[in-house]
Amino acid sequence: MENNIVCGCFNVSEQDIKNAINDGVKTFKELQDKTNIGTDCPPCTIDSEVIFNRILKETTN
Ligand code: FES
Repeated sequence: MENNIVCGCFNVSEQDIKNAINDGVKTFKELQDKTNIGTDCPPCTIDSEVIFNRILKETTN
């Protein structure tokens, strides 16, 4: 589950998002700067922001 690819263009998985948050990423913009997630196709941008927010909540709880 955690190795689910969230963004196919840049090969970013849920685990990668979790790792980025653990490394100090706090906003979707910072995640994009780090991984390029969702910077190529708009539907992915929307979906990956939703997933980022969910993982951020889970991780920081
Ligand atoms: S699949 Fe994520 S930017 Fe295209």
